[in-house]
Amino acid sequence: MRLDKYICDCTTLSRIQAKRAIGKGDVTVSGVVVKKVSTPVTPGAEVVFEGRLLALRGPRYIMLHKPLDTVCTSLDDDPRSVLALLDVDKPEQLHIAGRLDVDTTGLVLITDDGNWSHRITSPKKTCGKRYRVKLAEPVDEGVINVFAQGVMLKDETRVTLPAQLEILTPQEVLLTLREGKYHQVKRMFAAMGNRVVGLHREQIGEIALDPSLEEGEWRPLTSQEVASVV
Ligand code: URA
Repeated sequence: MRLDKYICDCTTLSRIQAKRAIGKGDVTVSGVVVKKVSTPVTPGAEVVFEGRLLALRGPRYIMLHKPLDTVCTSLDDDPRSVLALLDVDKPEQLHIAGRLDVDTTGLVLITDDGNWSHRITSPKKTCGKRYRVKLAEPVDEGVINVFAQGVMLKDETRVTLPAQLEILTPQEVLLTLREGKYHQVKRMFAAMGNRVVGLHREQIGEIALDPSLEEGEWRPLTSQEVASVV
């Protein structure tokens, strides 16, 4: 990796700031001042900036409790982005593994590891996502079977994958989906003549929303949580 990119990845500096620091002679590589920004950083090289030995940070994995009225999009696209809730370096390098609607709350996973997020969002994987759903009308028991068989949603060519419905009270249910079509939960209940009035994601695969996180709070995933996505 080039020296300017290495500095940029290890610090809060932008690429331009990193180039400037290198040009000013603020960076040493294995004890020698290096001013050429494209110098390759070889394995084992000790890069020091402002007296600090730099190390590349590993990929980042975060769980966030999404509040209402925030959006799962990049910071550039909308200032209401959930990424604005993270007090981390370079949030623009992060992306969301499975979006929620503006009026949905709950578990959002955020990372800069594209392979990892692909294992959550890829239609070829069948990672379960559990939602707690509040409904405008009491749900009919027959809907359990209908969702288990699959529903043909408007403008789709194939029925939904089997989904598991657990009725908690007549107007509150848990629904586990193994895919993520646009507005899927709302459209599935609309197809049953009902309406979703509250939607909260509790779990993705083995990763459950940490009950100690208030809306808007986040924490890094544990190594077990990261490893559970296969
Ligand atoms: N299904 C929906 O309808 N909305 C969401 O935010 C997630 C799943």
